[in-house]
Amino acid sequence: MAAHKCRVMHRSLRQTPPKAFGGEGVWLFAEDGRKILDSSGGAAVSCLGHQHPRVIEAIKKQASKLAYAHTAFFSSEPAEELAEKLVGHEPGGLAYVYFVSGGSEAVEASIKLARQYFVEIGEPRRQRFIARRQSYHGNTLGALAAGGNAWRREPYAPLLSQAFSHVTPAFAYHEKRDHESEADFVARLAAELEAEFQRLGPDTVAAFIAEPVVGATSGCVPAPDGYFKAVREICNRHGALLILDEVMSGMGRTGTLHAWEQEGIAPDIQAIAKGLGGGYQPIGAMLASGRITDTIRDGSGAFQHGHTYLAHPLACAAALEVQRIIDDEHLLDQVKDRGRQLERRLTERFGNHRHVGDIRGRGLFWAIELVADRNRREPFDPALKLHQKIKAAAFEGGLGCYPSGGTVDGRRGDHVLLAPPYVATPNEIDMIVDRLGRAVDLSLKNIGH
Ligand SMILES: Cc1ncc(COP(=O)(O)O)c(C=O)c1O
Repeated sequence: MAAHKCRVMHRSLRQTPPKAFGGEGVWLFAEDGRKILDSSGGAAVSCLGHQHPRVIEAIKKQASKLAYAHTAFFSSEPAEELAEKLVGHEPGGLAYVYFVSGGSEAVEASIKLARQYFVEIGEPRRQRFIARRQSYHGNTLGALAAGGNAWRREPYAPLLSQAFSHVTPAFAYHEKRDHESEADFVARLAAELEAEFQRLGPDTVAAFIAEPVVGATSGCVPAPDGYFKAVREICNRHGALLILDEVMSGMGRTGTLHAWEQEGIAPDIQAIAKGLGGGYQPIGAMLASGRITDTIRDGSGAFQHGHTYLAHPLACAAALEVQRIIDDEHLLDQVKDRGRQLERRLTERFGNHRHVGDIRGRGLFWAIELVADRNRREPFDPALKLHQKIKAAAFEGGLGCYPSGGTVDGRRGDHVLLAPPYVATPNEIDMIVDRLGRAVDLSLKNIGH
């Protein structure tokens, strides 16, 4: 008999992952009987944990009324209500929302809206975008071109637009020089951004794009104090827009609904996704300032973009319920409380660990960075694939977490990202750190440390 072939193209074409068949709160249940503590909500997605009964009910209710109607003909009740919830109070001047199906689509829409805005106001020369190295903005070609992660870009480099250039990230652990104060570091990064505007020609730059807290590529890296104020000022001075990618760090993950609230600035355009729908439906969104949207309304009258599943009613109904639950259950307070506990426990467990160089994050968004040598901040040899070993050991020990490699420059470095559901209990936070500690030590032992 022919060997059974798995027809799904999984992430690894050599291994089929176990089937997940159920979940409850922070727990996921695998077909082989394993119970996995989901300490990263997949990739910072499942902010309410799994199978929240209110969200399941909201999806059922919407599905029984109307599953889909194309946005070329109709709006829908959940889309209008969700929009009102997100931008009805115009946070930071963001007054309109464009619903898509994920983070990459939200970033693509953000890039295109910025470009169209400048075409409409008679500044068509603005066609350059400045982003940062070691960032991730998604995997579609536009979003990938914006991203600055060398490994992700490499095979597709010939296809990526030259409209994007990259400056040094605000990644103090690796980029701040030892003699520099934090303020010196911020000043150097601001000077570099200013120099990049000058190199390109300030009137050719449409926008600067950045993650307020860098997620997947570097592991929960918040910017030093004053960095985003400096960036905002440079964009304003040159008439360029600021696009913030909060696909991973947004919607409460860092303790405020938007990560930018903690920076004392607001963007002109913002991308959100993961925590918007909490994984219950595929949904992302672009939030846009009133100024940009009103300009286009008064100009051509339409955003020249679109997808078949814009503002999908089921996705909007699920996200609306997720956002209502975050309010009703005061989950942002919980993110702050549990976040402090997670920081404390990580510091107790790894603060003196000889191979943990940095513990960083905000809210319920934390990472540890593994190093071969703490004093020199020297990463492990990438050939050891330490992050993969930690992922496997953690899973074996009943913990789902999100380790990645290439932390330093897209090639070298290992970190483990944690993004527990906002509903995690104190006991579950303790279990996450205990299980992670065991997986890290076991993996280090297996590579001879
Ligand atoms: C900051 C950031 N932007 C964009 C994306 C792309 O989102 P998606 O995978 O939903 O397309 C991600 C995904 O991890 C992300 O972390």
